[in-house]
Amino acid sequence: MKATAKAHTNIALIKYWGKRNEALILPTNSSLSITLDKFYTTTTVEFNKEQATDEFYLDGQQVNEKEQKKITKFLDVIRKLAGKQEYAIIHSINNVPTAAGFASSASGLAALAAAATKAIGLAVDRRMLSQIARRGSGSACRSIYGGYVEWQKGEKSDGTDSYAVPILDAKEWDLTVLSVMLESKPKKVLSREGMKRTVDTSVFYDGWLQSVDNDLSIVKQALAVKDFEMLGTVVEKNALKMHATTLGADPPFLYWQSGTLEVMEEVASLRSNGIQAYFTIDAGPNVKVLCEPKDEQQVIAALNSLVAVREIFVCHPGPGVTYVPTS
Ligand code: DP6
Repeated sequence: MKATAKAHTNIALIKYWGKRNEALILPTNSSLSITLDKFYTTTTVEFNKEQATDEFYLDGQQVNEKEQKKITKFLDVIRKLAGKQEYAIIHSINNVPTAAGFASSASGLAALAAAATKAIGLAVDRRMLSQIARRGSGSACRSIYGGYVEWQKGEKSDGTDSYAVPILDAKEWDLTVLSVMLESKPKKVLSREGMKRTVDTSVFYDGWLQSVDNDLSIVKQALAVKDFEMLGTVVEKNALKMHATTLGADPPFLYWQSGTLEVMEEVASLRSNGIQAYFTIDAGPNVKVLCEPKDEQQVIAALNSLVAVREIFVCHPGPGVTYVPTS
């Protein structure tokens, strides 16, 4: 009744931005990401008949009531599938600089889904595991697999055809993803809230929906022929369109800060000097810069010269969920 799993974060090249069903976490569009080697969460789950409630410890500290409720709601999905009513003690260690605004929900929920299903004795294949992880946080369904991963949005209202599929193995194409941590202020709009506000109110949301499928097919084509310029160009455009939708929301909001623009401008200037580098940005001010491993040192040096840059984490495509022996 005890299991430990490890899952890595992922960065979306084509963004998941909007839900068609909030309870089941079903997206309005398909998305595609790279699972990263550097950041991961390791989670141990132990179900126990004596437990009166779930207890969740993150990096050794018990989380607050709100976080606790989210975990219980997620474990209820697994308990229902398993037909069991036991509560669990969960210990999660985050190897993600969360305080710096790097998303940990993807690795956190993917590791929890994997450890909890195993600990409760539920036999699931990867596809089912991806569907379960999705119920905790949409982007978590992609972290089940390593390398380049597509989350197929599906059409069904029960969500049984909405899960991730692997597209290209991590070792098939090594790219560099620089996670650029900025000197930034805390963000005001969380991704779940921002996504909802955009779907409900943004006058630009239709434009997003009209173009995202084409962006996705170009990325898949670029992955098939390993064309970095084709990949980077569309990845950047897709991120810009996602962020443009927030400006059309009511009330409008923007995840970028001044440092975000500094990095975007530096990436453009690297390109005008013949170095292929492209950016993408999630629901926060930090920027991810993509380049080929041969240009990695030059791109790092250029970004490090910016005053807004606090730290750069060098990432590459990483593995999917793995189980760790429990002591
Ligand atoms: C901008 O997966 O964190 O990073 O499903 O509400 O938990 P919930 O949202 P989450 O959203 C991620 C949004 C994004 C784009 C992406 O990762 O595809």
